[in-house]
Amino acid sequence: MSRTRVHNFSISLDGFGTGEGLSADAPFGHAGHRLHEWMTATRFWHGLGVVEQGEGAAGSTGADNAFAERHEHGIGAEIMGAGKFGPPGWQDDPEWRGWWGENPPFHTPTFVLTHRPRQPLEMDEGTTFHFLDASPADALDAAREAAHGLDVRIGGGPTVVRDFLAAGLVDHLHVVQVPILLGRGVRLWDGLEALERGYAVEAVSTPSGVTHLTFTR
Ligand SMILES: NC(=O)c1ccc[n+]([C@@H]2O[C@H](COP(=O)([O-])OP(=O)(O)OC[C@H]3O[C@@H](n4cnc5c(N)ncnc54)[C@H](OP(=O)(O)O)[C@@H]3O)[C@@H](O)[C@H]2O)c1
Repeated sequence: MSRTRVHNFSISLDGFGTGEGLSADAPFGHAGHRLHEWMTATRFWHGLGVVEQGEGAAGSTGADNAFAERHEHGIGAEIMGAGKFGPPGWQDDPEWRGWWGENPPFHTPTFVLTHRPRQPLEMDEGTTFHFLDASPADALDAAREAAHGLDVRIGGGPTVVRDFLAAGLVDHLHVVQVPILLGRGVRLWDGLEALERGYAVEAVSTPSGVTHLTFTR
């Protein structure tokens, strides 16, 4: 059975998954890169997961990397929100093709939830962006069909992850709690009281200072 998974979703101690003041120059607003420093240090991030240790290898290979690289395995489609796909107002720019250049790191059909859908965008190496104005359940049906039996990743941002959790559609949630206080931004946990009751929860803290929390149904 195809499962719905969230990976590497980073939040501050006070629960924010992004900062305030998002723009083309500040994809995470005032949070800057602080939510993801644990991940950008890993070999997963450096894109060298298939390269043997030694010359050319870069990035850490410890516990943070082991969690980070689970992002890829068995995924056949991603769903993301309009706020992840581009800065506020990207819908007014017919040329906007996402943050990631012509070869985005998804390599699967990728469904962008937006109230202003447009024609699909076919990118290099397997990523096609489909734009959907649909409920979480209907978006998941479309992504499952495209995933051909593989799992569907909910890629963020916090609004979309929260909506899928609230609808009871997430089977595995990996949240990374980063020891910073953002104070403002978009919160993950609002309206999800007692969410943990539906899941087996595990926590692992790593030398980088983050805590990996997994919620598994
Ligand atoms: N912490 C992390 O690990 C992580 C991961 C990924 C992204 N991010 C960051 O999170 C931020 C974006 O998060 P966000 O919470 O602001 O936005 P988001 O979750 O990416 O997207 C929310 C938006 O998607 C559209 N949308 C959502 N559900 C919809 C539905 N059912 N039907 C139609 N449209 C729907 C709406 O946009 P419209 O009404 O405008 O169409 C809504 O405002 C960015 O800063 C991004 O860099 C963080």
